[in-house]
Amino acid sequence: MVNRGLRERLADELATMRASGVHKELLHIMGRQGPTVDIDGLGETVNLCSNNYLGLCGEQSVVDAVKAGADRYGAGTSSVRFICGTFQIHRELEIRIADFLETEASMTYTSAWAANEGLFAPLLSPDDVLISDRLNHASIIDGARLCKARRMVYAHMDMDSLRETLEASRDARHRMVVTDGVFSMEGEIAPLPDIRELCDRYDAILVVDDSHASGVLGPTGRGTPEHFGMHGEIDIITSTLGKALGGMAGGFTASSSAVIDYLTQASRTQLFTNSMAPSAACGALAAIDHLENHPGLTDRLRENTAQFRSGLEELGYKPIPGETPIVPVIVGATADAMKLSAELLKEGVFVIGFGFPVVPRGEARIRCQVSAAHEPEHLDQALEALRGVGAKLGIV
Ligand SMILES: Cc1ncc(COP(=O)(O)O)c(C=O)c1O
Repeated sequence: MVNRGLRERLADELATMRASGVHKELLHIMGRQGPTVDIDGLGETVNLCSNNYLGLCGEQSVVDAVKAGADRYGAGTSSVRFICGTFQIHRELEIRIADFLETEASMTYTSAWAANEGLFAPLLSPDDVLISDRLNHASIIDGARLCKARRMVYAHMDMDSLRETLEASRDARHRMVVTDGVFSMEGEIAPLPDIRELCDRYDAILVVDDSHASGVLGPTGRGTPEHFGMHGEIDIITSTLGKALGGMAGGFTASSSAVIDYLTQASRTQLFTNSMAPSAACGALAAIDHLENHPGLTDRLRENTAQFRSGLEELGYKPIPGETPIVPVIVGATADAMKLSAELLKEGVFVIGFGFPVVPRGEARIRCQVSAAHEPEHLDQALEALRGVGAKLGIV
């Protein structure tokens, strides 16, 4: 029983989306996330759209740790952190994350979304200014909307624009600059050394959301700061445990003890919602262990990425340049990106098309994501399909 006016309006809007080819149809995965996935009705396809960058989502030691965690701690926490939702395994994981990132402390959340949404409002007030890259992740945008500080946006990775916003906000008590470490739709790496230099010059706080870089960038997978040799130089790092680091669920904020203690007192996305399932914390710990015990994984990811990127370029595609395993190919209109994705799926390659509002209007794309778990034959199969479908649609 849903209000008739709402039902009719939504039905109209959904019909328009279907007619213009931008309606999202959800596919159902029948087994584990891996270099290939079994899709309901389609069978096994090469998986080029998962954040499972290191393949740890299906790694047996991680799965076993999750099972053992559920046996020991039960299904969930049935409580928020400050009542009775903080388990010993949360503390163990938080110490481990802080060691991994060389920060004083960290705090887990149910997701990186929750970490970002709960970060800005407690730390900033109307006397402060929050300065955000125009292409930052939606969770940063929403987190910023919940915060009473003045908000300013700088042009994507544009240091002149960032300098102007810092200059224009000299009267603020605190300036906080926030950027994705790796931009999820572009695969670009934020110029952290330049951003840090500007933050230092203007006494601003630097926040980096490293969700697509944790476990991925840097010689040992410690993320964008390690990539630039900037350990200990980021004021606050947020990230996810739902991508390279096990792929289950969970996120965290890592910073000084004072920041983490303050968030424990005041961050609403852990004060008023259940904490991360203990079994997920066990899985994340096992994923970090696995990464540290298999240092070749990040090299493998880089090699696979280089193979796939050069293969694409040889076919005539022009992916957005970069060195991360996010390899987007811009096609323009949303319907064209959806069409390319649908045709690739028919050829046994799973890669999703993205359009507005996920990416700017006119910049619709397919986003290919490479994993260390891909074997060369998976990437060859994907490239072969891209050759055929690209020619059929007149893209290459
Ligand atoms: C940059 C960035 N931040 C945060 C998130 C949210 O991560 P989670 O799935 O842990 O909420 C994502 C996920 O897409 C992301 O790309």
